[in-house]
Amino acid sequence: MKNISIIVAVAENNAIGKDNKLLWHISDDLKRFKKLTTGHIVIMGKKTFDSLPNGALPNRTNIVITDDINDRFEDCIMAYSIEDALDKSDDNKEIFIIGGGSIYKQFLKYANKLYLTKVHKSFEGDVFFPEIDINEWKLIEQVNFEPDDKTTFAYSYLIYKKLK
Ligand SMILES: NC(=O)c1ccc[n+]([C@@H]2O[C@H](COP(=O)([O-])OP(=O)(O)OC[C@H]3O[C@@H](n4cnc5c(N)ncnc54)[C@H](OP(=O)(O)O)[C@@H]3O)[C@@H](O)[C@H]2O)c1
Repeated sequence: MKNISIIVAVAENNAIGKDNKLLWHISDDLKRFKKLTTGHIVIMGKKTFDSLPNGALPNRTNIVITDDINDRFEDCIMAYSIEDALDKSDDNKEIFIIGGGSIYKQFLKYANKLYLTKVHKSFEGDVFFPEIDINEWKLIEQVNFEPDDKTTFAYSYLIYKKLK
């Protein structure tokens, strides 16, 4: 069985992005994202790839999903459907679904782990994380952070496992 994990940072109102950008900057969360995903596979939609400041994420297998068979991105494997992206993923590595909204929605049924950074504040967005059925998931880890000088809102790292 493939080891498929969704990793996402979500506002209180489920917003995850606006104008093809993230809605906040949480430096610790970005470091955690790097630490968790390095050495593994990251699968993303074309718009999320376009939003990356320096192209492919280093030291990870980058798989980008698009309908455009002429698109080629440096240091990336191109995939043309959800199934194609999974076929091109090495079963021995953790497969991280890193967004955006359309990709999370389509991969939700395949994922067995969810790394959710919950931001305890609502943001105006134009892309949202899909509703999850909480009965299908078991919370296995939770770490809470209070607002501080760098981050003016509270947030939590939640890890869920899919119930069989
Ligand atoms: N908060 C977070 O954790 C987080 C994480 C990642 C991204 N984001 C945000 O999410 C937003 C982007 O999300 P989005 O939903 O607009 O875009 P997206 O999911 O990143 O990319 C959408 C594109 O992916 C391709 N695609 C999607 N499903 C496909 C399929 N089944 N077959 C072939 N191609 C497929 C299409 O590309 P083509 O048009 O080329 O065919 C589509 O236009 C941004 O604001 C970004 O900052 C937030």
